[in-house]
Amino acid sequence: MSASGPRGGLGSPHLHVRVLDSTNTRARELAAAGAPHGTLVTAVEQRAGRGRQGRTWSAPPGRALLSSLVLRDPPRLLPLLAGIAVAEVAERAGVSAQVKWPNDVLVGGRKVAGILVEGRPQERWAVLGIGVNVALRPDDFPPELRDTAGTLRLEPGAVSGTLAALLEVLERWLERPGEAVLDAVRERDALRGHWITWSAGEGIADGIDEEGRLVIRAGDGSRVALDAGEVHLGYT
Ligand code: BTN
Repeated sequence: MSASGPRGGLGSPHLHVRVLDSTNTRARELAAAGAPHGTLVTAVEQRAGRGRQGRTWSAPPGRALLSSLVLRDPPRLLPLLAGIAVAEVAERAGVSAQVKWPNDVLVGGRKVAGILVEGRPQERWAVLGIGVNVALRPDDFPPELRDTAGTLRLEPGAVSGTLAALLEVLERWLERPGEAVLDAVRERDALRGHWITWSAGEGIADGIDEEGRLVIRAGDGSRVALDAGEVHLGYT
C-alpha cells in the first residue's frame, strides 16, 4: 500500500488503441490528468514512436509490443529494473538476454527491446515505455539497423502473451529492493570489459555502481561514473 492508498495491479485500467502517435505521449497525458498507478496504454501501431535521446522508434503494425505504464512513486532504479524485467521476458522465449546499460535488451548482441522512461519527479510519477520486437522479421528493419537490431522471432499472436508476461515480471521486480536490481543488472551486464567511448572520454566498462551508474576505467587508472541520459555510448 502506498501513502496515497491501495495500489492496483499493473495494466488496469488498460487503454488499447489501434493507431497512436506514441503510447508514451498518451500515457504522459493520462498521468498528468491523474491516471492511477498501473494505467497501461498499448497500440498496434505508432505513427511517431519515440526513443531515447530524441531518436524515433518504429515497428510494423502488430509485430511489436508497444506499451507504456503510468507508475506512481517510481523506484530510483526504474530504468535498470525495466531492462531486467524485459530480459527475463525475452528468456521465456527460449533465448538468453543481456542488458546494455542502462537498459537496452540484447539477444545475441542485437537490440530486441527499447525502454523510454519519462516523468515528473516533482509530481512523483513516471511513464515507463517499452517496445519489444516480438515478431519482426529481419527484413522489417531499415537497412541502417540490420546489423544491430534483433527480434524474438515469435509470431504476431505472441504479442499479447508477451505483454502479460511483462506485467507479471515487472510487478515482481517493482517489489524488490534496489540491491537485487543492481545484482541482476551486474549479472547481465553486456558492456563489462568493453571499450566505451562517449562525448567526454573513453575507457573500459568496469561494472555498475551502487547508484546504478556505469563505471569506466580510463587508461591512466582513473574512474568515472556515468549517469544514464548524459551519454551516448559507442562500444567495441
Ligand atoms: C530506445 O531504445 O531508444 C527506447 C525506445 C522506446 C520505444 C517504446 S515503444 C512504446 C513506447 N512509446 C514510445 O513512443 N516509445 C516507447
